[in-house]
Amino acid sequence: MVSEFVFCSFFLFLKFVILIYMSILILGGRGNLGSQLTKIFKADHETISLDKEDLDVLDFPLLSSMIQNTKPSLIINTVAYNAVDKCEDPVEYKLALKLNQELPGVLADLALETGATLIHYSSDYVFNGIPEKIEFSETDTPNPVNKYGQSKFFGEREIIKRGEIGLNYYLIRTSKLFGPKGESDNAKPSFFDIMLNLAQDNKEISVVNEELSCFTYTNDLAEATKRLWELEMESGIYHLINEGEATWADGVIELFRIKKINAFLKMVRSENLLRPARRPKYSVLKNTKLKKLRNWKLALREYLEK
Ligand SMILES: NC(=O)c1ccc[n+]([C@@H]2O[C@H](COP(=O)([O-])OP(=O)(O)OC[C@H]3O[C@@H](n4cnc5c(N)ncnc54)[C@H](OP(=O)(O)O)[C@@H]3O)[C@@H](O)[C@H]2O)c1
Repeated sequence: MVSEFVFCSFFLFLKFVILIYMSILILGGRGNLGSQLTKIFKADHETISLDKEDLDVLDFPLLSSMIQNTKPSLIINTVAYNAVDKCEDPVEYKLALKLNQELPGVLADLALETGATLIHYSSDYVFNGIPEKIEFSETDTPNPVNKYGQSKFFGEREIIKRGEIGLNYYLIRTSKLFGPKGESDNAKPSFFDIMLNLAQDNKEISVVNEELSCFTYTNDLAEATKRLWELEMESGIYHLINEGEATWADGVIELFRIKKINAFLKMVRSENLLRPARRPKYSVLKNTKLKKLRNWKLALREYLEK
């Protein structure tokens, strides 16, 4: 009994030491999610975090030689084309396909070749959300309603295809990210920060009272990503979102309640905003595989306090 305990403890210690010495490559490391991942992984792993100013990931020969030389054990890709409306433009869509489809394919090949695990992020926008199908689990079949969702879905397929020939991967779908602005000068403020700024103008704020999905705190997502990898969970698709479904309007009502802001909100429907891209009306991701993340209202409160 005692020797079994000593053996297990030694094994756990050994695994911990091995994990510490595994090197990790984060791409998009100064973006919104990438900055949180960098902070969290750097705390106890050897981590190389790169962004556009260090390496243009679309320079595939350079990307390949960098990965072949550094041989990271884990590659985390947060680089993406995220401009949902601009993506409807055919020229922009070409760039979206390069970043959201071709790049994950190249990374999956490189990970296979070097024996690395690949972590890649996708979106609730791969689903078509209709009232009959509000919630989507990891095994549901994507059917995107806009070009951005399509490009993310094509990227998923590139990774899943390599998974069938031995790639160890975690394809993490998430939605409505919020958290501190990334370190990159181009990083976009999150929805809640935009709403706080608008509230300062004392003008009526129009907010969409639809598009039910889940808010996700980048800090919680980064922590959960690290846990997923450290626990050596089974390779495959994971849904990581803060628990509790919400529309954009639910989000701003909670935000103003916590911050005690009295602003006049005008509820609008998705169709009232003239935007080139359609959005799924319901795209709640259901996490059926992992310990659930805390409720989004608790995460929002912590973000605002920090
Ligand atoms: N944001 C959301 O609400 C949301 C929802 C669902 C899923 N996701 C997914 O979550 C992931 C992370 O999203 P995010 O919002 O954190 O993205 P983000 O802030 O836009 O970060 C992406 C980073 O990649 C960099 N990058 C872009 N093109 C590059 C290139 N050619 N070479 C090197 N780096 C390049 C960007 O640099 P620059 O800023 O200088 O361009 C940026 O720092 C993405 O896969 C996204 O699709 C996001």
